[in-house]
Amino acid sequence: MDVSFVAREQSRLLGELSSFLAIPSVSALPVHAADCRRAAEWLRDELLVLGCPTVELIEGQGHPVVWAEGPEVPGRPTLLIYGHYDVQPPDPLDEWISPPFEPTVREGRLYARGAADDKGQVFCLLKAYEATLDADRRPPLNIHFIFEGEEESGGSVIADLLRAEPERTRADAALVCDMSYYAPGWPAVYTALRGLCYAEISVRTAERDLHSGSYGGVAPNALETLVRILAGLKKRSGEIRIPKLYKAIEPPADEELTSWRRLPFDKDAFLREETTGRALTGLKEYSIFERVWALPTFEIHGIKGGFVGDGAKTVIPAQATAKVSLRLVPGQVYAKVGKQLERAVAALAPKWADVQVTLLHGGDAVRVDVSHPAFAVLDEAFASVTGRPAVRVRSGGSIPIIPELGLAGAPVLLTGIGLPDDGLHSPNEKLDLAQLWSGIEIFGRFFELFAAKGGAAGDPAAAAPEPAMSLPLVPPA
Ligand code: BES
Ligand code: ZN
Repeated sequence: MDVSFVAREQSRLLGELSSFLAIPSVSALPVHAADCRRAAEWLRDELLVLGCPTVELIEGQGHPVVWAEGPEVPGRPTLLIYGHYDVQPPDPLDEWISPPFEPTVREGRLYARGAADDKGQVFCLLKAYEATLDADRRPPLNIHFIFEGEEESGGSVIADLLRAEPERTRADAALVCDMSYYAPGWPAVYTALRGLCYAEISVRTAERDLHSGSYGGVAPNALETLVRILAGLKKRSGEIRIPKLYKAIEPPADEELTSWRRLPFDKDAFLREETTGRALTGLKEYSIFERVWALPTFEIHGIKGGFVGDGAKTVIPAQATAKVSLRLVPGQVYAKVGKQLERAVAALAPKWADVQVTLLHGGDAVRVDVSHPAFAVLDEAFASVTGRPAVRVRSGGSIPIIPELGLAGAPVLLTGIGLPDDGLHSPNEKLDLAQLWSGIEIFGRFFELFAAKGGAAGDPAAAAPEPAMSLPLVPPA
């Protein structure tokens, strides 16, 4: 790869990434549908400039999938690259220091919605590809790109496509760069992702809102009914009160738990810099890693109902809705958990209220087998740039399409160049530019190493990385 690429092209690259990030591709909000399409077109144009002979926007009921194939390189392996061009809504807007869709650099960090999740990481892979093209614009291996625009909002365009055309996932490996380092200086690959069950619980207690003086004391209150149901779904201890919810969980193996105990972790810094509250909550008898990576959650994301305008209004609301989700861990299946939630809510609902659970979207938890030799190749690429192979960790987050990416047998390399404090889904999301520049080099090297060694990288034992457990317990430099 051209090692001077980043140094030479930095200001152009920053301009290009900024133009991509300036497109407000918020997939959950219908007003941004045209922006999502513009982001897909931005990728299409970029892939054409990079010399891909096949570039398509694939339509469905929602935002398009971008598909591209680099020039064919006979005799070389095929790598499938997945990413997403959609972003989460940027609110609360007044907490952004610079506007979410006006990318701004401060102290070596690029601030914008999507900087890390996932447009900046998609951009990193595209530029790694560019850096490895030869004078005839030929890459070192066969690369297929698949980018979706509904990862953050639960659409089905990519799932429908892969169901209809599973051969698109035929590859020697799939590379997903939508995660982060474990800590600065500590690249990571992920052995599991949590799944999700996202739902709306709505309550109606009367035909219309009522005067709280005339009827207060006798008329049921929809908001109160809703919060009692919500409170009934989780104990103060953090235990979720959905019958049989914990039954299907496959607990982590002792070996995995031991490796987590050996990871460097500073609880005070985690509290101060990441969760930013005064205490950590949840099941105290489990470690923080277990709570975030190996146990399900129940979260309330928002409640709508009653009067929330300025001033006061004495009203008994007739209707209220909550958006909630459960994160699922290996062993738990979305369809089953959805039914368990419906049953638990029905059991908590008073007879005189109409209570409905609407499942919005979700996905199963996944485990990723990291024993394939492609992981050793990725370790080599990370080690050559950062001095460390990737640690094996899990993620508390979800990427619903991951199980489908591996259906044709390709190992799924889940990794990323973000840092834990990037603020995904929060105000002031950022990407450290040093991570982007080194990431371009890392993935450029990975493409070249994988081109040479492929998925069948000789003797896997010889190429095996340092196991996470034997990593030195020193904080990263
Ligand atoms: N990039 C994230 C996944 C992630 C989360 C990686 C946390 C590392 C740490 C992904 O884009 C994401 O946010 N996914 C959603 C999926 C959901 C809306 C179905 C999530 O996890 O909330
Ligand atoms: Zn993402």
